[in-house]
Amino acid sequence: MNFDNRVCQKLHEEHAAVIALLERLTQTIARHRNDVPDAKDPMVTKLMSDLAAELPGEVERHFAFEEAELFPYLSEAGNHGIGAHLTHEHSIIRPIGVALVKLIGDVRAQGFDAARWTEFRRLGQQLNDSLVPHAQKEDMALLPMLEDNMDAESEARLYQEYVENV
Ligand SMILES: [Fe+2]
Ligand SMILES: [Fe+2]
Repeated sequence: MNFDNRVCQKLHEEHAAVIALLERLTQTIARHRNDVPDAKDPMVTKLMSDLAAELPGEVERHFAFEEAELFPYLSEAGNHGIGAHLTHEHSIIRPIGVALVKLIGDVRAQGFDAARWTEFRRLGQQLNDSLVPHAQKEDMALLPMLEDNMDAESEARLYQEYVENV
């Protein structure tokens, strides 16, 4: 999938990146279905540091941009429903991410025990099950709609705001 609109393309690439991260998360959960992983296992450590960096960083920045700029843009173009629906999904996903990052902080300090691993699996699965369909829905519905509606001037302004001013 590719978009001519650079804002859409950037968001699509970020969706692909977070889906890949969540795939690593679910693979780790599956690999340790019957045991408790060592928090110092390099793959587990890397996964936790990527989650702890991406969720409050890139993912929150991405959500905030969609809510501040893209949903209002569509709303002005006459479509209020999609932004309200996707904002509601963000409000479900955010606290799961916050809880998972907090748990990762505990695991870094104390390692995994059975209870922390059970909680990690539960939150990780919830995050996957809410965020993957959300990103896919945006790829299929939100981004094509934005590409159809957005004039070149808005594209340039929003691209600069989101991508160039980091
Ligand atoms: Fe979103
Ligand atoms: Fe998105």
